[in-house]
Amino acid sequence: MAVQNKAIKLVTAIPGPKSKALTTAKEKVVADALSLHVPVIIKEAHGALVTDADGNVFIDLAGGLGCLNVGHSHPKVVKAIQDAVANFTHTDFSVIPYESYITLSERLIALAPVKGPKKAAFFNSGAEAVENAVKMARKFTHKMGIIALEGAFHGRTNMAMSLTSKVKPYKSGFGPFAPEIYRVPAPYVYRRPDGMSEKAYVKFCGDALEKALLIQVHPDDCAAIIFEPQQGEGGFIPLHPDYLKRMQEIARKNNIVLIADEIQSGYGRTGTFFACEQLGVEPDMILVGKSIAVGLPISGVIGRKDILDAPPDSTIGGTYVGNPVACSAANAVLDVIEEEGLVKRAAELGKVIRDRFVTMAKKLEATPGSKLFIGDIRGLGAMIGAEFVKDTTTKEPAASEVNAIMAKGISRGVISVKCGIYGNVLRMLIPLVIPTDVLNEALDVLEQVALEVAKG
Ligand SMILES: Cc1ncc(COP(=O)(O)O)c(C=O)c1O
Repeated sequence: MAVQNKAIKLVTAIPGPKSKALTTAKEKVVADALSLHVPVIIKEAHGALVTDADGNVFIDLAGGLGCLNVGHSHPKVVKAIQDAVANFTHTDFSVIPYESYITLSERLIALAPVKGPKKAAFFNSGAEAVENAVKMARKFTHKMGIIALEGAFHGRTNMAMSLTSKVKPYKSGFGPFAPEIYRVPAPYVYRRPDGMSEKAYVKFCGDALEKALLIQVHPDDCAAIIFEPQQGEGGFIPLHPDYLKRMQEIARKNNIVLIADEIQSGYGRTGTFFACEQLGVEPDMILVGKSIAVGLPISGVIGRKDILDAPPDSTIGGTYVGNPVACSAANAVLDVIEEEGLVKRAAELGKVIRDRFVTMAKKLEATPGSKLFIGDIRGLGAMIGAEFVKDTTTKEPAASEVNAIMAKGISRGVISVKCGIYGNVLRMLIPLVIPTDVLNEALDVLEQVALEVAKG
């Protein structure tokens, strides 16, 4: 049974006996909604490698769903966390403040592509950053309406879930949703109407946004537009720069706050620290989460001082928000990103992934009788996704095939995740510290299993 590649080491069938026993125990005591994507229990992880309870070593292309741009257990970050824990674990920043929170604010303010004087505030989760950004925008504008995009994902709390687009599994059965949310199309260029040029389609989406202010919510009632510069859960769709330009013009003209949710796309993953930088859009607020602190619970809102200062004393906050251990980890993460040049590295890794997907697409096409194809390869930097279809003309989504690729991949030592409104996009959320040969080893496995799935 033993499989010994360079990085991958499989010493049992997957799952091994210890993982099996623990996942069986899990079924009895953990709520079913927390279902398992990988059927093994982790023991430890370093860089891009995960070792399970049975001693199997996997290559991790999921990075804790995009939280590990600096990799698992980076020694500098571990040290910062250990030191912070040894000093103090909690005070509530608004009761007794600490330096790491202030330093983190200064550093993220310096990085955020928001014009003018800026401020920051930290929360626990991405969804909480979304909730608070909406509160700030409403207080600042004295308006209620929020425009969100088709394909958006902003989290699972009531406001964040209401702003999210995909109904199953995220919304169905969980209404009533927060009011004053208006949905507009976002350009999903690969699935634009037949016969429509990309340019015309992007214009159509911009027109729809403008029209929403006539037929859905009046500009006098619209506080904010929230968008992911590259949609994450929605299918790894970078928003077209022309669409974003139009969005910004509409927002500025109508005193509408522009909120960029960079919880998934931020922290260098796209080859610039924030995706907005390369898409030519200047939001008023930027939301950060995920890779900010290697998965410790912290998120942030960075934005215009006048907007962040709008809510009065004690209206924004929470017991644990911006906790000191996570702030220390977040400062160490920024050090590692700078010292190891991970933003530049993301762009390099992105080229490797893109080339490998192009090759995979060609091999799938050349496979006799293939029922699996890559219809689109897209994304910025290392945030690359491949959209799998059953037929390149009809573009019928190949969701079960992508599930099969991931499952087979895991059984051969590669952990990957998917996204997309049809669940047919294999997405890369790799730790940016992954060596190229390890990445290629993982992509060899994924290519091999994709070809097997294509043959049926
Ligand atoms: C773009 C985006 N916004 C918000 C969230 C919600 O973050 P959290 O799960 O930390 O609440 C996510 C999580 O996947 C996300 O990708």
